[in-house]
Amino acid sequence: KKISIIGVPSDYGQRRRGVDMGPSAIRYADIIERLTTLGYEVVDEGDIQFKRGNQVIEQNNKLLNLNEIIEVSNHLANKVQDVIDSDSFPLVLGGDHSIAIGTLAGLGKYYKNLGVIWYDAHADLNTPDTTPSGNIHGMPLAVSLGLGNDKLTMINGYTPKIKPENVIIIGARSVDEGERELIKKLGIKVYSMHEIDRLGMTKVIEDAIAYLRNQQVDGVHLSLDLDALDPLYTPGVGTPVPGGITYRESHLAMEMLEEAQIITSAEFVEVNPILDERNKTADAAVALMGSLFGEKLV
Ligand code: ARG
Ligand code: MN
Ligand code: MN
Ligand code: MN
Repeated sequence: KKISIIGVPSDYGQRRRGVDMGPSAIRYADIIERLTTLGYEVVDEGDIQFKRGNQVIEQNNKLLNLNEIIEVSNHLANKVQDVIDSDSFPLVLGGDHSIAIGTLAGLGKYYKNLGVIWYDAHADLNTPDTTPSGNIHGMPLAVSLGLGNDKLTMINGYTPKIKPENVIIIGARSVDEGERELIKKLGIKVYSMHEIDRLGMTKVIEDAIAYLRNQQVDGVHLSLDLDALDPLYTPGVGTPVPGGITYRESHLAMEMLEEAQIITSAEFVEVNPILDERNKTADAAVALMGSLFGEKLV
């Protein structure tokens, strides 16, 4: 069993600096040791290389740093494909959530019916027409479904990367009006905080797994935005929203996904050490990876 870690030090998807240091913070939280102990061969592929510099707000203020994000996405898509070619599990470290555009652009070349679990306080389903911020980290799920700017949807030469009926959003509690309409129109499955409170995380994950199996997906990507958790547990994120998933519920979710042996790739995004408290958010990310890869208490 092999895991390949891909760092993506990009902060181009939003306006708060520091999330580009997420991969370093997660490495400092001993990710390699943690996964090696579980019996995996862990290969650190290092960070995706691209030119660093101050962010430039494009004339088009509906797509902040568009060109930079295209470059990062192309590099990342290629790297993800290389990792799959080497029969390894791609584990991508953000960076803000705009990097999911590149991850899914790579995955979609292999998985023709990919399932996606989007563990997030947000839906990330905005397009340039609906975005309240111009921040591309609020758009990656829409882009991967083929909606939005052509330069983004066509990354890696094809669109769409995924199908709406194969997507499950878990933890949503901050959804914009345009996103809400899109969820309805496309029939995307959402377990918001309401359903998590009402059904409990056990039932939510059981349902999610059954749903994806019924869709006969050929792989499942876990895109985990650390802001899905309550900011009590993961304060180091750029867009915290109170009323989130607990630390224990998140561990349970990861453990159940591991038991089901359903996840074929994962990314952990939005860790911003500048906004964090003594690396608490990176520590939480690595602890959750422990559960996702089979750590057991007894
Ligand atoms: N919906 C808001 C926007 O479009 C916030 C998005 C936050 N996304 C994230 N990946 N943290 O700007
Ligand atoms: Mn380049
Ligand atoms: Mn989010
Ligand atoms: Mn997100």
